[in-house]
Amino acid sequence: MTEITHEPLANPARLARIPLPTPGELDIATGHVLARIDRALPEFTHLFPGPSSVKLYYPAIGNIEWTNGFWTGMLWLAWELTGHARYRHAAEIQGRSFLQRAEQQINVAHHDLGFLYTPSACAAWRLTGDPAARRAGLLAADLLLSRFDPVSGVIQAWGDLNDPAEAGRMIIDCNLNLPLLYWATEQTGDPRYRDAAEQHLTQAARHLVRPDASTFHTFHMDTRTGAPLRGTTHQGHADDSCWARGQAWGIYGFALGYAHSGRVGLVDLSAALANYFLNRLPDDLICRWDLIFTGPEAPADTSAAAIAACGLLELVRHLPIGHPDRELYARAAWGMVRELDTKHLAPLLGSNGVLANAVYHMPKQIGVNECCIWGDYFHLEALMRLRHVWRPYW
Ligand code: GLY
Repeated sequence: MTEITHEPLANPARLARIPLPTPGELDIATGHVLARIDRALPEFTHLFPGPSSVKLYYPAIGNIEWTNGFWTGMLWLAWELTGHARYRHAAEIQGRSFLQRAEQQINVAHHDLGFLYTPSACAAWRLTGDPAARRAGLLAADLLLSRFDPVSGVIQAWGDLNDPAEAGRMIIDCNLNLPLLYWATEQTGDPRYRDAAEQHLTQAARHLVRPDASTFHTFHMDTRTGAPLRGTTHQGHADDSCWARGQAWGIYGFALGYAHSGRVGLVDLSAALANYFLNRLPDDLICRWDLIFTGPEAPADTSAAAIAACGLLELVRHLPIGHPDRELYARAAWGMVRELDTKHLAPLLGSNGVLANAVYHMPKQIGVNECCIWGDYFHLEALMRLRHVWRPYW
């Protein structure tokens, strides 16, 4: 692993002042999300919300994007929370399209199989024992495994496996795709999925994390020699800046990496990334879209805040009780979620999303100051985590 600087928290007193949530506050915030899911459910039972909204309305799409799993995952979360049959019913209708997509290999030439299948198929299998959901998850894991390059030890993020421009490129987001591989080993007993995940995790920790505990969005490896080449960005401000959502994927993904692999160094790594992230937040605790910005000149990314909150709460599960930052991370996570709930909810009438003020792709000007479906999902997941009764899908 790269020698990295683990910055201390810059303002622990500010975090210590954030109260922990009461059950009543969590119920109110959860109710806000459920009301928005109910608002969108008739539209998104046979179809899905697109990745990001346009003027706060998600377009309705088929099961064709990297993001379809998030809405189905929200339905499973809502079913776990309430037991209401309407959520399960819609999630099961959508489940059929995930099996079809994996069988017919529709838009699966990328690594986002974990984002797609963990909160949909793997969640369904765990919660209902549906064998078709298990089959869909295993087909997706096979597709993900096929993208692993044993020479460089990384899973190719994007593009055809014969595309020389994309060969050997890994991205920090992939950490959230790895739980699908651990799940497949757990289900089948075949160690190849887990071995690929662990090699990728090693390379991600070594090359995507910079010495100051910030992250590259993407990193290129030489697939002929296995040598590291260079870090670049795709959705961040610059190659050497720190894209906020990438850092959030890193906090969460390395903490999950520890949960699956037991490698203790990954807890420290997640914590170092967390401190870098928390030390660059504006006063309202909602990150700008790239951590190079902290002021009002740059749009916030509420989706990155929601992911980071989940990452901090996963980290809290693995830190020893007496760790000096453990409780501060829990307070910071609630501070962010409370801010999202009180200042960034999309209007119930006037939107079909949950969280406004996210950014999908600033360089391409897609989904800027809009709802992003993963932000909606992770906001609800963070609330589930704060309730302390939830077993993660990841
Ligand atoms: N994983 C793609 C994104 O976060 O936009």
